Amino acid sequence: MSPNGLDAKTFFERVEGITYNDFILLPGHIDFALNEINLETNLTRNIKSKMPVVSSPMDTVTESRMAISLALSGGIGVIHYNNTIEEQAKEVRRVKRFENGFITEPVVLSPNHTIKDVDMLKEMYGFSGIPITEDGTLDSRLVGIVTKRDTDFEEDRNKKLKDVMTTQLVTAPAGISLAEGNRILKESKKGKLPLIDKQGRLVSLMSRTDLLKNIDFPYASKNKDKQLIVGAALSTREEDKERLAELAKAGLDVVVIDSSQGDSVFQISMVKYIKSKYPQIDVIGGNVVTAKQCKSLIDAGVDALRIGMGSGSICITQDTLSVGRAQGSAVYHTAKFSREYGNIPVIADGGIAHIGHIVKALSLGASTVMMGGLLAGTSESPGEYFYEGGVRVKKYRGMASHEAMERGGGKRYMSDKDRIKVAQGVSGTVVDKGSVVHLVQYLMQSLLHSFQELGCKNIQELHKGLADGTLRFERRSQSAQIEGSVHNLYSFKEPHLGLLRMNR
Ligand code: IMP
Repeated sequence: MSPNGLDAKTFFERVEGITYNDFILLPGHIDFALNEINLETNLTRNIKSKMPVVSSPMDTVTESRMAISLALSGGIGVIHYNNTIEEQAKEVRRVKRFENGFITEPVVLSPNHTIKDVDMLKEMYGFSGIPITEDGTLDSRLVGIVTKRDTDFEEDRNKKLKDVMTTQLVTAPAGISLAEGNRILKESKKGKLPLIDKQGRLVSLMSRTDLLKNIDFPYASKNKDKQLIVGAALSTREEDKERLAELAKAGLDVVVIDSSQGDSVFQISMVKYIKSKYPQIDVIGGNVVTAKQCKSLIDAGVDALRIGMGSGSICITQDTLSVGRAQGSAVYHTAKFSREYGNIPVIADGGIAHIGHIVKALSLGASTVMMGGLLAGTSESPGEYFYEGGVRVKKYRGMASHEAMERGGGKRYMSDKDRIKVAQGVSGTVVDKGSVVHLVQYLMQSLLHSFQELGCKNIQELHKGLADGTLRFERRSQSAQIEGSVHNLYSFKEPHLGLLRMNR
């Protein structure tokens, strides 16, 4: 055994596959403070983010709420495609239209609606301040607003809104800053501030009750037009070209070609098609686990690669098909090849079962990590909470579980048209982890500590250490793994619910 561990080349170029749990990183020399560490990274050749976190395109993980919160926190969300073209495009549009503190798709009514309609909306959404536009759609002129004060004492609930609405409006021009909007709201003492365009059409709304929640997100992932960055998944099938056209119209920044085995003629031709038809959209190809697969997709023109086959927490591909690779080895070998062959960023996808696995994935050459299970069960993931054995949980399922395939999820496995469907994933539950915003803050703070222990100020330095052999690795025996986890206690309290438990 080497007194200072092994370099990655010696460690990984052996026969057996290595997973995140199989190794530990040896400490480096600390000569900087925590606040000097910068986690900025490249998701793709052209898209940067302040945090190396990406959410998986799964129907129990990423829709617009997740993508918005993650982009605000400095990561990027990829909207799943287990839905209709219209639904997926709508989710993308929601993210692109999102402005912090501004309600970009407010519910509106027309002057001919009645107070009863307002009552119904209050019951459904819990708010009663409704802008009134000429024809009751967002695209028409703002003519009034109905608030609780206009309807409280009205006994005739069939009365038309044009007879009760307030028409003396305090409005502001669309495009003002959040701070300016907040100032007007405070000074006007109104509950709502409609923002209108030059033609007087309603664009968005600010709400007094949201004032305190309007926190700033300094790390938000935004494009040059200051819109949040969002990705969406696509299959390799011909008809998904139509899907892509709608996603492009909605303003998509990056497409993930979602396939469990990316090295196929179908994917290569789809990559070439996207790169020639939509040069403004970056393409993430995958999934791949070998250098040879990487070469096929890099030659086709991908802007990043998604790495992983069989490592996902809900995945049974390795058991079922006996094809795949241990995730540590997969990330190391693909990242090494991609760095040397065109400097293409790789995304370590799946198998991040533990908070500490994030730094391990990055230390093997990944530029970002994609997570499903770790982000599922947050309040921003799709689905409702329910109780299982007294624990508050949410559903989390593989896209190739029988359940998801029934809704179309088999597209990534080329099995959506098969008569007999072979499941490559399972359906289960994960514990309630609260808001993803807080979860990501926790994960990133922990990552800063890891970087400090390693003596690296940023991801580029970590990758340099990997390439030049100064980053040192050591194999963990079974008993070393037991020693490194909580042991010999009758009971203990987890520091962050669910993050340790997932490792068992
Ligand atoms: P996790 O973060 O370990 O939960 O893994 C999430 C990853 O598993 C996704 O990003 C996909 O690459 C992969 N995945 C999603 N659904 C399935 C499935 O049904 N079978 C196998 N892998 C899946």
